[in-house]
Amino acid sequence: MKIGIDEMAFATTDQYIDLRELAKRRGDEPDKYTIGIGQDQQAVVPPTQDIVTLGAAAAEKLLNPTNIKNISTIIVATESGIDNSKASAIYIKHLLGLNDFVRTVELKEACYSGTAAIQFARGLVALNPQETVLVIAADIARYGLNTPGEVTQGAGAVAMLIGANPHVLAIEPTAVSYSKDIMDFWRPLYATEAMVDGKYSTNVYIDFFLQTFTRYQQLTGRKLEDFAGLAFHLPFTKMGKKALEALLGQRTDPTAQRMRKQLTAEQAYCRQVGNLYTGSLYLGLMSMLQNGRIQAGDRLGLFSYGSGAEGEFYTGIVQAGFATYLNDIQADLDARHQVSIDEYERLFNAQLGMNSADQQFDLAGDQLPFVLAGQRDHQRIYQRNQ
Ligand code: HMG
Repeated sequence: MKIGIDEMAFATTDQYIDLRELAKRRGDEPDKYTIGIGQDQQAVVPPTQDIVTLGAAAAEKLLNPTNIKNISTIIVATESGIDNSKASAIYIKHLLGLNDFVRTVELKEACYSGTAAIQFARGLVALNPQETVLVIAADIARYGLNTPGEVTQGAGAVAMLIGANPHVLAIEPTAVSYSKDIMDFWRPLYATEAMVDGKYSTNVYIDFFLQTFTRYQQLTGRKLEDFAGLAFHLPFTKMGKKALEALLGQRTDPTAQRMRKQLTAEQAYCRQVGNLYTGSLYLGLMSMLQNGRIQAGDRLGLFSYGSGAEGEFYTGIVQAGFATYLNDIQADLDARHQVSIDEYERLFNAQLGMNSADQQFDLAGDQLPFVLAGQRDHQRIYQRNQ
């Protein structure tokens, strides 16, 4: 029985900044951001949006009266949790109007947890093939104003239905996981921004990719030639290039050139949004499927990386008709509006964060389907946008 990704949808905020403007404000060369890091735009998050509202917005795009009935479980993968006890999946289930006989849970391991959620969902579907699992990978990447990581911030959610006889990607059995206790990036309970040893983190990422891909080749006997493309976790688009070039070295043969072209296709949406943390690999996969030369029957490799650190390399076979099971991401990105750097900084500092006081947010400027209206008696108030 084939099990894998049946449908995918992406949602982000409806405003962004131009990173050339941010570079000028920070006294950096714009080319450092657009070429050196490989980012052009960045999602800006108003205080009325968080992983619950973004996750629900992404999931709503792929639900219909038929498939909603088969959802047995919702797994939200995130490192931007909004409560230390209660799972964001419960809020999302309520906003989406799913029935109460649904399992709801939240998973964490930095940017890796979306992949863990998919693998766990595969197991649930293998036990009960009539069930569908809704996996939502949602995050808000925050490093802080005027930090080296600022240019790599971003936000958004990818929602995926995992089921039998999938329409997008049938996941193959062999997956190689690799983990080590490493302090490359973390966020203590008292912090709203990540702490990071940036250069070290890029080296660990490359090492984990080479470790998992080499072991995968040893286990399966497959070669790079057997892949139509490799999709990487993209904390910023240059990271995927660094990892791919570490594998290719000086190679210029047709396979190497194909891998480079598919990587460019994978990078297209990340360039315009930034890091989604655990959703980034899956936004990259959607980008490759929509912008690359991908056909039914192609084998894709996926490299997932979460700081702390965990890597996983696994593969899937693209299914016939996959294109109709993804939302039109470029159209959604084109519909956003640009904000100034002053406005971005104001919104960055207006987040609820660790604040315990009652709050009521102005909802007027937010066009997304769900909003965080505020906080009352230490409880977050979510609602459908009027
Ligand atoms: P930095 O110190 O600002 O940048 O930090 P830099 O000085 O190293 O420059 C960056 C690149 O721009 C360099 O190229 C420069 O040469 C180039 P590289 O050597 O890397 O190829 N450059 C220029 N290019 C063209 N024109 C110019 C120019 N000037 C310079 N004028 C860093 C960069 C990525 C470290 C920083 O942004 C950072 O700390 N980011 C956050 C950490 C991160 O994303 N790490 C990635 C691996 S860890 C991971 O993926 C997990 C993660 O997603 C979290 C999770 O798991 O939850 C982050």
